[in-house]
Amino acid sequence: MTDYVKSLSPITAVIGTQWGDEGKGKLIDILSAEYDIIARAAGGANAGHTIYVPDTENPDKPTKFVFHLVPSGILHKGKIAVLGNGMVVSIPSLIEEIDTLKKYNIDLTGRMLISDRAHIVFEYHKKIDGIEEAQKGDKKVGTTLRGMGPAYQDKIARRGVRMGELLEFDKFAEHVRSTFMSLQRLYKDLKHDIDKELEDIRKMLGVIRPFIADTSLYLYNAAKEGKTILVEGANGTHLDIDHGTYPFVTSSNPSAGGLHTGTGIGVNQIKSIVGIMKAYTTRVGSGPFPTEILDELGEVIREKGGEYGATTGRPRRCGWFDAMIGKYSVRINGLTSVNLTKVDVLDDLEKIKICTGYKHKGNKLGSMPAFADMYEELELEYIEMDGWMTDTSKATTYEELPENARKYIEKIEELIECPIQFVGVGIRRDQIIVRS
Ligand code: GDP
Ligand code: IMO
Ligand code: MG
Repeated sequence: MTDYVKSLSPITAVIGTQWGDEGKGKLIDILSAEYDIIARAAGGANAGHTIYVPDTENPDKPTKFVFHLVPSGILHKGKIAVLGNGMVVSIPSLIEEIDTLKKYNIDLTGRMLISDRAHIVFEYHKKIDGIEEAQKGDKKVGTTLRGMGPAYQDKIARRGVRMGELLEFDKFAEHVRSTFMSLQRLYKDLKHDIDKELEDIRKMLGVIRPFIADTSLYLYNAAKEGKTILVEGANGTHLDIDHGTYPFVTSSNPSAGGLHTGTGIGVNQIKSIVGIMKAYTTRVGSGPFPTEILDELGEVIREKGGEYGATTGRPRRCGWFDAMIGKYSVRINGLTSVNLTKVDVLDDLEKIKICTGYKHKGNKLGSMPAFADMYEELELEYIEMDGWMTDTSKATTYEELPENARKYIEKIEELIECPIQFVGVGIRRDQIIVRS
């Protein structure tokens, strides 16, 4: 076991600290080599976690995988993937991922468990997502249109349909029809062939049923036997329904609280929580983004960082690192350490800014505003640092990083009040620096 994994607890979590796409997939993939089980807690196919696997025959062209539902650790042989109860699962999307993995000779048989309590995302949820967004007009959230909000809405309204119900298909179908009828009453514009959807699901039962299990019990017993667990976060803290930039958020709890409710692992069991933080900030969809760079520099960062959504392909909005966001995430999640990712993307910049504070109507704010419209009235406090103007992508130790890059990293560490344990300098597995 590597020393840095020894410093993490047997049950460790990796979560997003900004607005998603911070690079969670990469660290989860790296750490998974040394964990037995990888369990996802929240979200659904709104997530897109990218992993590049080295190709020995073609070293310059690693194979790219994007995971939406299947936990990102599955590329390592023998690992068990768990889809926790906090997730919402689209069956056709899951089948598509299973099939893609099969093409790479990765067979999930006996290696994946889906919580019987996880809610199902139906095709009609995706349509309702579209209806809701259209109704919001210029206030739309910019969702991924993957049906997340409507599926979680059904869960909270106590009419949702769960994975375990697939084990008795007739009863399941009856429940789906009754839920769908309630939704038709609520959404007059909803046009959907429910019989066809049920028939499509019936055909997929053979593939899905063997994976369904009481995953919380499985995780409990596995931990008792000494197995290690990596809990995979999705989305990001500032997209959290409670702690994010409401209402421009997702419909679940991607922050640390959701790790426990979303897996059934006891609150005192996850002792290491690694926050993934990009060295700058990005956001897809609408909503407040105080440090957004609206001139061509934003475009330069987008191109260098490949900032296009892994799920929807939408260009990501780009901006400076915001220490207010970082510090809030450290607090809300109780982060034990941070992985600062994509430092290499800033290599060519002469000057780099960090937002250190917000003022609202002349008053200094202690934390993030609770209301989206307050963001429009914020005055931002920035510091400007000298860039390093050097390629960092080949650095393998912290000492090899240029002095100004280290100063930048250490300034962030001081501002967010959490140790930066890992520094990302490229897409590949080996492009990560571990600080001792
Ligand atoms: P996730 O949703 O948090 O897993 O992140 P995404 O996969 O949506 O987006 C992160 C992107 O950044 C992916 O394309 C990663 O391959 C890439 N990435 C991750 N870490 C680094 C890094 O340190 N440097 C660079 N240049 N790219 C990185
Ligand atoms: P990963 O796990 C980036 C954003 C959407 C939208 C808002 C609500 O890859 O980091 P939803 O479809 O969830 O109702 O959309 O949340 N969003 C993400 N943005 N990365 C994600 O996941 C996201 N998951 C949701 O863009 O603004
Ligand atoms: Mg992503």
